[in-house]
Amino acid sequence: MSALLLWVVLAQPSFDVAGFTRPLQLDAPGAAACAACHPQRAAEWRASMHRQSLTSRVFLDGFSAEPQRRCLVCHGPLEAQLKHSWTSRHLLARGALPPEGSPVHEGITCAVCHVRDGEVLAPSAAALPYGHPVRFTPALRTSEFCGTCHEFTGHAVIDGATRLNALPMQTTLSEWRAWGGAQTCQGCHMPGASHRVRGGHDVDFVRGAVRLELEGGVAIVTAHDVGHRVPTGDVFRHLVLWADDEPLRRFGLELGRTEDAQGRPGVGVVRDTRLEPDVPVRVQVPAGARRVRLTWHFTDASPRPRPLLTREDELVELSSLPVVRSAGLRARR
Ligand code: HEC
Ligand code: HEC
Ligand code: HEC
Ligand code: HEC
Ligand code: HEC
Repeated sequence: MSALLLWVVLAQPSFDVAGFTRPLQLDAPGAAACAACHPQRAAEWRASMHRQSLTSRVFLDGFSAEPQRRCLVCHGPLEAQLKHSWTSRHLLARGALPPEGSPVHEGITCAVCHVRDGEVLAPSAAALPYGHPVRFTPALRTSEFCGTCHEFTGHAVIDGATRLNALPMQTTLSEWRAWGGAQTCQGCHMPGASHRVRGGHDVDFVRGAVRLELEGGVAIVTAHDVGHRVPTGDVFRHLVLWADDEPLRRFGLELGRTEDAQGRPGVGVVRDTRLEPDVPVRVQVPAGARRVRLTWHFTDASPRPRPLLTREDELVELSSLPVVRSAGLRARR
């Protein structure tokens, strides 16, 4: 089972990826091998962040700071991608990409989720006139399948070897379990089996799930219609609530030096101020403020020079409201 295979890979401190990629027996593991017969799925996928998992400038910017082989086990998991990207790691870390159209460029391509042992993993058991061998794989429709990549711990480099530790990095699957709602990841992110998989890079999608309101002098921020914390996923993504140009509140993770349950040191989460689904957060707006705004940040705010990102790549404004004080309040001041 694919989920199991990937999990086994991730759980192995040595990062032997062969167990995951060896069963692939495709002449051409790229999406072109599927697109001719599944044009709609291919078009959706091309517009998705899964397609850009190895070439997204936000990823490459992070990779330039920490060019670990481990990153590619999720961001470019095919054997060909790993080999190529690893041999040209220093180029990749500077943003030099493999040729477009090559499976190496494609990141999380069709075969990563769908192909094992020369068979296509299919979500339904319907007897269709398949153009290829299929293996009915109900796991494809479970949140646990997505969790194989969307839930993982940190690592430390000890004597040159990468070792996983127990410090949580991304916890979307656990957050989803804690939420306890009826929808799966696919239910919200793949409606009608769409492979567009909208998420944090689709600003309208995020806007539709984060509400900013003003009640008197109080700003209220609420995440709704979402099955995990906001933001979930990448540890550096965060929200900031502003009064004019003053930051009032940050919603996100804060990383720092910490220890795991066994007392082993590492970098982990020291504070979690992310929004919980359907729990409004109220923040007093300082007197005299004219406008409150909510911004969405794709990176941390460290002063590290960023080789690949522009300001536009780093943040967007989600909403902005004028502060209207009542006449009564104004008269009292
Ligand atoms: C020669 C044409 C052809 C090619 C090439 C092809 N497929 Fe298919 N595939 C089909 C047909 C026909 C069906 C059955 C009807 C349908 O679901 O579209 C099917 C079914 C599927 C299903 C199951 C659909 C379901 O409802 O359960 C999946 C998943 C799938 N293909 C994925 C792929 C992937 C991934 C590739 C590339 C590695 C690929 N296909 C390449 C023709 C093809
Ligand atoms: C991140 C994993 C992932 C990737 C990458 C991916 N798929 Fe899928 N695919 C799924 C999941 C999950 C489902 C089941 C969705 C559902 O039914 O809710 C699915 C369903 C399908 C189906 C059957 C649904 C339908 O009626 O069309 C086809 C066909 C398919 N995928 C083709 C492709 C092709 C072609 C690509 C590459 C262009 C691709 N997939 C890439 C995870 C993936
Ligand atoms: C092979 C690992 C892998 C699997 C399996 C996987 N993902 Fe992802 N996913 C990623 C990576 C890596 C990214 C980050 C891409 C980037 O922005 O660089 C990502 C990004 C996303 C995003 C964010 C998109 C955005 O606009 O920011 C969503 C939503 C998402 N995945 C949902 C899913 C769902 C739902 C499933 C299960 C059907 C799934 N993923 C399965 C690795 C995976
Ligand atoms: C009830 C609907 C719902 C469910 C269930 C759900 N999501 Fe989301 N997800 C959203 C919405 C809405 C957003 C946009 C807000 C945001 O970016 O956090 C989002 C954002 C994301 C993002 C972008 C990261 C970010 O910035 O927050 C990822 C990655 C993601 N989801 C993965 C998953 C995975 C994996 C699962 C299953 C374990 C899942 N989601 C379950 C609705 C849902
Ligand atoms: C276990 C799988 C896994 C590993 C290992 C992993 N990532 Fe990711 N990464 C993900 C997933 C899943 C997402 C999508 C979550 C989201 O969009 O918020 C992601 C998102 C990101 C993002 C945000 C991308 C964007 O477009 O916004 C960056 C940056 C990133 N990863 C860097 C790295 C680096 C650098 C490494 C290695 C040190 C690494 N990742 C290792 C799974 C992984």
